[in-house]
Amino acid sequence: MTHKKQIITELEVFSLRELTDFEQGLLIAAQSATQDAYAPYSNFWVGVAILLENGEVVVGSNQENASYPAGHCAERTAVSCAASLYPNVKINQIAVAACRADTQDFIAISPCGICRQMLLEYENRQQQAISLLMQQAPGQIYKFGSVSSLLPLSFSKSSL
Ligand code: THU
Repeated sequence: MTHKKQIITELEVFSLRELTDFEQGLLIAAQSATQDAYAPYSNFWVGVAILLENGEVVVGSNQENASYPAGHCAERTAVSCAASLYPNVKINQIAVAACRADTQDFIAISPCGICRQMLLEYENRQQQAISLLMQQAPGQIYKFGSVSSLLPLSFSKSSL
C-alpha cells in the first residue's frame, strides 16, 4: 500500500530593516560583491558574503568561462576562499545577492543544487548549522536556519 510523505522546510521572511545590524552588513557585503562578478556570458552577477566565527567576512562572486561548465558560482567561490584562507574556522552565516548587469536591481536568488551540496559538506564538516540569507526581490530577505533545510534527503559522507 502506497502512502504519501511530506518534507517541510521552514524559513523566515524579513525586510532589510528587520535584520540585525550584522546581518544587514553581511547582505550589503554580498550586494557589493556582485560588482566583482565575471559573468560576460549570463550577465547575471551573484555576490556572496560569508561571516566566519572569528568575525572575518570573506566574499566571492561568480566567475564564468568560455567553456561554460568551467565557471564557478559565487557560493562555491566564496566558500573555497573562506576554507583556504581560514582553515578550520567555522562559518556562521552566508548572505547571497544577485543583480543583472544591465539594470543593477537586486533580484531573487537561491543557491543552485551543486552549491547547496557543497555548502552542506561544510556544514556537516563543522557540525554546526550555517544560516543563510537570500536576497529576494525587492527588499525582502529569506532566512534559512541551516543548509540542510535547503537540501532534504541529501547525500553526504554518512551515506557512503
Ligand atoms: N550562479 C551563482 O553564482 N550562484 C547561484 O546560486 C546561481 C547561479 C551563477 C552561475 C552563472 O555564472 C550565472 O549565475 C548564471 O547561471
